[in-house]
Amino acid sequence: MPCLKGYPVSDTPDTRQPTLLLGQTLSFTANPFEVPFEDAVSHETVGAVLIRDGQIAAVGQAETLRALNPTAKVIDYGKGLIMAGFVDAHVHYPQTAMIASWGKRLIDWLNSYTFPEEMRFASKTYAADIAGRYLDLTKAHGTTTVASYCTIHPVSVDALFEEAQKRGQRVVAGKTCMDRNAPEGLMDTAQTAYDQSKQLLQAWHGVDRISYAITPRFSPTSTPEQLDAMGALWAEHPDCLMQTHLSEQTDEIDWVLGMFPDARDYLDTYEKFGLLGERGLYGHAIHLTDRERARLKETGAGLVHCPTSNTFIGSGLFDMQGLMAEGHNVGLATDTGGGSSFSMLRTMAAAYEVGQLRHNPLHASQLLWLATQGSARSLHLDDKIGNLAAGMEADLVVLDLASTDAISQRSSRAEDLWESIFPTIMMGDDRAIRAVWINGKAA
Ligand code: GUN
Ligand code: FE
Repeated sequence: MPCLKGYPVSDTPDTRQPTLLLGQTLSFTANPFEVPFEDAVSHETVGAVLIRDGQIAAVGQAETLRALNPTAKVIDYGKGLIMAGFVDAHVHYPQTAMIASWGKRLIDWLNSYTFPEEMRFASKTYAADIAGRYLDLTKAHGTTTVASYCTIHPVSVDALFEEAQKRGQRVVAGKTCMDRNAPEGLMDTAQTAYDQSKQLLQAWHGVDRISYAITPRFSPTSTPEQLDAMGALWAEHPDCLMQTHLSEQTDEIDWVLGMFPDARDYLDTYEKFGLLGERGLYGHAIHLTDRERARLKETGAGLVHCPTSNTFIGSGLFDMQGLMAEGHNVGLATDTGGGSSFSMLRTMAAAYEVGQLRHNPLHASQLLWLATQGSARSLHLDDKIGNLAAGMEADLVVLDLASTDAISQRSSRAEDLWESIFPTIMMGDDRAIRAVWINGKAA
């Protein structure tokens, strides 16, 4: 019987009987980058969440929901903070085992550590082992949905989706395509990238909670022919997401511009080949020109901020304030294993620190919004996940806001909700994750 830190849970929950979770509840009613934070959230100190058939049926005051649902099974988390599970909008699950590799910048880091590890995913057994390990680690950190790159091997995609399916988990992923500047054994071609991606997309997209993302790694590792093939596949399947990397390091940008002499800028190397669109997800997006910013804004594309990666690999400081003021669609991500953590709490802390270096102290409500609603919106899944609200899928995290002595001695002095949450954002880790619910079940 699984045990959530003291809460025994049946192995076979009766889906017909609703479950009522009691605790503090936090929901977003608006975007705290657009309205004052006090107008953007709804918080109940003694709140409740009603879960029925894998969905959130109601959120409200404990007393009211208890009275309305006398037959519900009640689980009381006390002062635990119940909120939407974290959504990690850009990860590389195959990099799980080489996270925290020392001393290199992007291109050297890829060649020295990443590519040798990704070669191992030719083995389905190895891929399944890492996929399971990855989903267990991220769940332990409160993450309920990820958008992941796989490797060029189709079995690496099957392995992740099969492990997600076992867990009833919503996952976005795709086969990473590369046909140049990578080791032999880690390259496909324009044609095989197209064929294999299409086959995987047809097999998996929309099955259970799985979505397929067309995934050219980045311009330096795809020939124009391969980018063109990926653009053609996306045009045939416009309901899919397309994920790639954009303007992460300045020497990477110089390399790209040398490789594509006709391109106006880095973004243009995607735009030329039909790889710029509203359902496009552009990881990092740090060193953008005015034209790139304008085009990204115009298309409503998703930009994914990866702060622990951007500091760990030494890439630069994402312009959150400027991009949000312009109305960009921004998500938050660990970028494991360029990122140095599996934790969205740690990632929010890094986003705060990067903000401070740019003289923009993000508010706790903005950090939590980015890690849930913002990321879900960038994945075009905000009608399903990323908020604690009736009608959403029941992917939840329960935070212990006093999980360590260091945090508890600080949060005990808090004078308001945000002061009680901020120490957990800045200092919390998997010990702060009291429970996780995925698809309406204790995970
Ligand atoms: N750019 C291309 N591939 C990668 C990767 O795996 N990680 C990061 N951080 N940047 C990339
Ligand atoms: Fe990445």
